[in-house]
Amino acid sequence: MAPLKVLIVGGGVAGPALAFWLSRIGANITLIERSQQMRASGQQVDIRAQGVAMMKKMGIEAAVRAACVHEPGAQIIDLKGRAHAFFPATQTGTGKQSFTSEYEIMRGDLVRILYKLTEGRPNVQHLFNTTVDSFTQDDESDPNGKVHVSFRDGRKEDFDLVVGADGAGSKTRRIMLGPDAPEPRHPLGGYIGYFSIRSTPADSDRATFCPLPGPRVARIIGTRKDCPELTRVYMILLGKDPAIDAAYKSGDLAELKKAWADMYQGGGWECDRFMDALRHASEADDLYCSPFEEVRLPEGSWSKGRAVLIGDAAHCQTAGGLGSTWGLIGAYVLAGEIATLYEKDKSLPTAAVVQAARTYEEKFRPAATATHGGSEGFSHLFPRSSIGIWILLLLARLAAYFRIDQKFGMFGDTWEWPLPEYPALERAQTED
Ligand SMILES: Cc1cc2nc3c(=O)[nH]c(=O)nc-3n(C[C@H](O)[C@H](O)[C@H](O)COP(=O)(O)OP(=O)(O)OC[C@H]3O[C@@H](n4cnc5c(N)ncnc54)[C@H](O)[C@@H]3O)c2cc1C
Ligand SMILES: *[C@@H]1O[C@H](CO)[C@@H](O)[C@H](O)[C@H]1NC(C)=O
Ligand SMILES: *[C@@H]1O[C@H](CO)[C@@H](O)[C@H](O)[C@H]1NC(C)=O
Repeated sequence: MAPLKVLIVGGGVAGPALAFWLSRIGANITLIERSQQMRASGQQVDIRAQGVAMMKKMGIEAAVRAACVHEPGAQIIDLKGRAHAFFPATQTGTGKQSFTSEYEIMRGDLVRILYKLTEGRPNVQHLFNTTVDSFTQDDESDPNGKVHVSFRDGRKEDFDLVVGADGAGSKTRRIMLGPDAPEPRHPLGGYIGYFSIRSTPADSDRATFCPLPGPRVARIIGTRKDCPELTRVYMILLGKDPAIDAAYKSGDLAELKKAWADMYQGGGWECDRFMDALRHASEADDLYCSPFEEVRLPEGSWSKGRAVLIGDAAHCQTAGGLGSTWGLIGAYVLAGEIATLYEKDKSLPTAAVVQAARTYEEKFRPAATATHGGSEGFSHLFPRSSIGIWILLLLARLAAYFRIDQKFGMFGDTWEWPLPEYPALERAQTED
């Protein structure tokens, strides 16, 4: 009996996590990534709530802990650099969450840890500079149906299951849903941009955020620091800007740098130092920019036959900051549903993956999309005027004084959702 043959499109967080789980049940996995090499860029991501239990199940807690960024907490400052409020880091992964979680890790380190899990496994192939051009599927009712995939380099191959783990702009999703499906990406108004600069001794090791007054759009500038040599600059733009829209669409690094630098130059605090570096220093070539957006797919459309979406491709919510946590969990739930059916019958007709993909969405969707829609209009509420920012700083000061973040949590309580247990996956682990 040939093993279940799976194509995973996208080597970010969700893709390698799924490769790990499915490799344990003996599936034959091809993990493809569009970039020339592992895309280990990005700034800090945090693993919270069920993500912590998830990490333990995957056996990567020690590796993550060893790579963790030790950020003492987050502060809000004024234009003179004076701290008005300080929120210390959360010391436990569960319970009420502050801005800085117990497990803050650079996205690249997390991606590397996840890749390592399947490196050298005979049943997992990692292919770079590879993407899909198109695919078609046999009918869902065909018990042994396949997905017929054409790759960009002209190769063709059949798979039992194709998984789109290719992020918010997923091409797999576009192919799966067809050209007439409505666009599921909902812009929430606003962008984030991150880049690195050389540190100066005065740069704080706290996450530091400074709201900037200005006539047009609400802007925040911030810094975080995960290593001695570099400071990471965070730009948060809460509102529309045609120049940044155009630069983002062009995907051109020079245009993006210019649009962001024009937006923040002269903004106050250390903006000018940061923007000079953005324009001229090579450290800033890691500029990453993303709109605040949500991927909202109609119920029942996370999969279609033997194609299924995980991670940001299925349920991206930029503003929530939980993308990595949900990416890890979604991969586990899909693998768990497949393992449960697979364990019962190793000669499983591939129609079973159709069912597993549906059950995965039914179980996981309520958790992954619980806060969708909640950020609608948040960009309009953020102050732009000096007086508005003064009030904001005052409220932040009160919140920090009364430890509001610890009492109520800054990230809501979607933690009530119980992480499903999959004995079939756990058993596969012990046989390993
Ligand atoms: C470069 C980068 C930097 C990021 N930085 C941050 C950050 O600093 N903070 C934060 O909170 N979140 C960041 N994110 C988002 C965060 O990684 C995700 O929200 C979360 O990890 C969910 O991961 P995912 O695997 O679903 O998607 P992603 O992590 O976005 O990974 C998708 C992967 O698919 C690849 N891909 C895309 N299209 C194709 C295609 N057609 N064929 C093959 N491969 C394809 C991409 O190159 C990427 O490696 C970043 C994402 C990226 C890609
Ligand atoms: C797994 O798939 C690859 C590529 O599709 C193929 O070359 C290999 O023979 C397969 N391995 C098994 C054990 O079926
Ligand atoms: C990437 O793949 C394309 C074909 O899809 C090929 O033309 C190109 O040479 C490859 N690039 C590298 C660096 O291997």
